[in-house]
Amino acid sequence: MEKIHSLTGMMDLISSKADKEDLSNKVFLTEKLLKNIFENFSISEIRTPALEDTNLFKRSVGDTSDIVNKELYSFLDKNEKSITLRPEGTASVIRSLIEKKIDGDTHKLWYLGPMWRYERPQKGRYRQFYQAGVEMLGYEEGISEFEMISIICAINRELRIENPVIKINHLGSNETKKNFCDALIKYLKPMKSDLGEKDIARLEKNPLRILDTKDPNTQKILEKAPKISNFLPESSIKMLNEIKDTFSKDCEINIDYSLVRGLDYYTGFVFEAVSSNLGAQDAYLGGGRYDGLCKQLGGKELPAIGMAMGIERLALLSNAVEQTKSSISFIIISSTIAANAYKIAHDLRSLNNKINIDVQLSEGSLKSKMRRANKDNADYAVIIGEDELESGDVIVKSLSDQNSEQLNMKLNDLRDFISNLK
Ligand code: HAM
Repeated sequence: MEKIHSLTGMMDLISSKADKEDLSNKVFLTEKLLKNIFENFSISEIRTPALEDTNLFKRSVGDTSDIVNKELYSFLDKNEKSITLRPEGTASVIRSLIEKKIDGDTHKLWYLGPMWRYERPQKGRYRQFYQAGVEMLGYEEGISEFEMISIICAINRELRIENPVIKINHLGSNETKKNFCDALIKYLKPMKSDLGEKDIARLEKNPLRILDTKDPNTQKILEKAPKISNFLPESSIKMLNEIKDTFSKDCEINIDYSLVRGLDYYTGFVFEAVSSNLGAQDAYLGGGRYDGLCKQLGGKELPAIGMAMGIERLALLSNAVEQTKSSISFIIISSTIAANAYKIAHDLRSLNNKINIDVQLSEGSLKSKMRRANKDNADYAVIIGEDELESGDVIVKSLSDQNSEQLNMKLNDLRDFISNLK
């Protein structure tokens, strides 16, 4: 029979006890640490569906973005309605607030889940990937910009990320954006034929995105192009400098006037966190202010700022290590005593919820079970056979110290031993 494979760019994550450096393990640990950071910042969780009306993304992420143009996973459902696997989380959060009629309040929300983009897979770029995001809603420009960068610094610290750089920019008001785009078009139009193919299309539809070009010809032409910094009000430049001053002791912060981001909804402060350790796909986090999105989707005027981070990219960068708990491999020598031996394991588990007790479920020799316990990096093996059950003793063997003697313990002593483990 023909084998069934996972789809291109979509991977299985399977945690491994034996290999702590395995990407799946790192992904799960990253998620745990991120949730902790979000809690520390007093941010609440939101979960939205993975499937949404396709129009939600067309109207928010934007018709001219790469995401909507060519990367959406869109299908017709049984009712011939176009639905899309979410490529990002911000639009769904806003849709949810509008629907629940809570778009006039303030909210600090985080989410974590799979997103889908039909991209060309490579290291750090997948078609199904996991993102965590934070959205601060109902807050005008000001303190929340600082809060965003503070969260990024906490992520860099807790995940022990090497060589992080935060790039920041300000896109100004709609008026600033328009004046700058007019000047950019005026400068680029006479050289249109020298631009990259993608950039020619962007010139008509979304000239700001040309600043994000990967085309060397366009990059050369852009060297002498008007700069957004010349169009920004003094207050925006001041904010960029203040943010740089505040956080420079924690992380390298670069003001990058060509940073524009790939989604259409951004309005003011924008940022990206990158690390040279990632290779070509160097951004592990990105975000910015999007004050116009809620109104644009049919809700109230709602100032907002947010960011999202790629979990796999963070996991690739993370040097964090799991806080180790003591682990016991519980070995029942023969299935004939399963019920009575299992009672002991069940009882031990209720004594200490800070340790792991792994009851070996498969049949096999003591030798193979000890091999399993060692492979799983257990700290101790607790071994129970018929003789032990009869005498009320169990065998305890330390696996971290291979030279240690195995001990015979009375059940009550074992209970004390387990209760005191950390
Ligand atoms: P984004 O820059 O499109 O922003 O994605 C955020 C992060 O998701 C990226 O920096 C990257 O780490 C990760 N990512 C994106 N595409 C892929 C992929 N194909 N494979 C692996 N990782 C990927 C947003 O999604 C906005 N919603 C962020 C935001 C929230 N802005 C305001 N609020």
